[in-house]
Amino acid sequence: MITFETFGTPGWEEMVRLRHQVLRAPLGLEFSQDQLAAEVNQLHLALWLDDTLAGTLLLLRPDPTGTGKLRQMAVRPGLERRGFGSRLVGRGEAELQRLGAVRAGLSARTTAIPFYERLGYVAYGEPFIEVTVPHRSMRRRLDDPA
Ligand SMILES: CC(C)(COP(=O)(O)OP(=O)(O)OC[C@H]1O[C@@H](n2cnc3c(N)ncnc32)[C@H](O)[C@@H]1OP(=O)(O)O)[C@@H](O)C(=O)NCCC(=O)NCCS
Repeated sequence: MITFETFGTPGWEEMVRLRHQVLRAPLGLEFSQDQLAAEVNQLHLALWLDDTLAGTLLLLRPDPTGTGKLRQMAVRPGLERRGFGSRLVGRGEAELQRLGAVRAGLSARTTAIPFYERLGYVAYGEPFIEVTVPHRSMRRRLDDPA
C-alpha cells in the first residue's frame, strides 16, 4: 500500500529513519533540522508492507515549466529488486501529472542510473557531486510510455 504521510507525524518520522539508514548513514551524514524543515511543502510517499515501511519517495510539485521532481528514493535493505522502487516512482509520476506536470526530473546517484533508465529516464548534462557521491541529472516526459 502506498500512502501520503503528513509532515511531522509518526509515519513521516519513520520515513526519515529509513531515509537516514539508506541515504545518509552509509555516507557518514545526518539530516539537519533545517534540511527536514525545508521539506514541509513536499509530498512524502511511503510504501508499506503491512506495518513495515518498505520504501520512500518525496515529490516536489511542478514548477512553472511543468517539471516536477522526484527525490529521496529509498528501498529498505533486504527488500530491493521486488518492484517496490518502481511502484513508488509510478505512483509519484501519476501524482505529478495530476498536479499538472509534463515531465519529471531527478538527480540520480550513478549507481541508481540503470534503475531509472529502466523506467524511461534519460541522463543529461555533466556528472556532479551531491552528498559526497557522483550524480547525473535525469528526466522523462510523463506523456511518453515508460
Ligand atoms: C535504487 C533503488 C531505489 C531501486 O529500488 P528497487 O525496489 O530495488 O527497484 P525495482 O525492484 O523496482 O527494480 C526495477 C528494475 O530496475 C533495475 N535495477 C534496480 N536496481 C538495480 C541495480 N542496483 N543495478 C542495476 N539495475 C537495477 C532492474 O532492471 C530492475 O528490474 P529486475 O529486478 O527485474 O532486474 C533501491 O535499490 C535503493 O533504495 N537503493 C539505495 C538508495 C538509492 O540509491 N536510491 C536512489 C538515489 S538517486
